[in-house]
Amino acid sequence: MSLPESDPGLFENMYTARALRRFKPDPIPDEVLFQVFDAAIRAPSGQNVQDWRFVIIKDPAVKMKLQEWSTEGWQRYQSRFAENPEAIDELPRSQRLSLRSVEHLVHNVGSVPAVICATGLKGRHSTPGGSIFPAVQNLLLSARALGLAGSIFNFPLSHRDELMEMLELPENNEIYCLIPIGYPTDRHGPVNRKPVKKVVFLDRWENTWPFAEEQPDEGWTSRWFPPRQ
Ligand SMILES: Cc1cc2nc3c(=O)[nH]c(=O)nc-3n(C[C@H](O)[C@H](O)[C@H](O)COP(=O)(O)O)c2cc1C
Repeated sequence: MSLPESDPGLFENMYTARALRRFKPDPIPDEVLFQVFDAAIRAPSGQNVQDWRFVIIKDPAVKMKLQEWSTEGWQRYQSRFAENPEAIDELPRSQRLSLRSVEHLVHNVGSVPAVICATGLKGRHSTPGGSIFPAVQNLLLSARALGLAGSIFNFPLSHRDELMEMLELPENNEIYCLIPIGYPTDRHGPVNRKPVKKVVFLDRWENTWPFAEEQPDEGWTSRWFPPRQ
């Protein structure tokens, strides 16, 4: 696998970049990874400081630590399902599928081809994250365009300080998120979100925007991802 000849258009990409968490064992070629980062760093940042730094974690020992820590995180934040995994089966379909994929990643992050650690300078910006997450989103969309998949996965970050030490991050930096990526076994497809009319207001809080009111609840997904014949 290497760079594809073409990619989905921007809109198809955005409407279908699901958080996929199951991966084939295939390694990611360097030219593909380079393309992902070369696009990620085109993002804007405050005063164009570009203080993002990314660590590509491939070291099996570090990835196994992430797996250990994410299992702890799963037990802490999803104790109900950690103690009784069958309870996931009783959830509505979309929640069930999503939680099953989280559970899978929790127990398999040690064998994901690469985990990206996104960092930035501590206290450098008045809106922390605002200068890192645009690059992270570029990274996720580029990955999707190249046939990869990934999602933000912060369960292991309860051991943030230990991870900083393992990666030898300087103290004036901080970790913003972890992004396991690889070639997915599941398929990308339309993402479900609350309709525009529920989250966009005109001039005043909760004042409806008439144009959005008239649009379908599922939005314009079908323009960019028509049902396959
Ligand atoms: C700041 C942030 C933190 C997240 N942390 C986690 C996480 O710890 N574990 C996880 O499985 N997904 C995490 N996610 C991924 C979200 O769960 C996912 O993007 C959301 O459910 C939408 O999924 P979809 O695009 O497949 O619909 C995080 C996303 C963001 C933006």
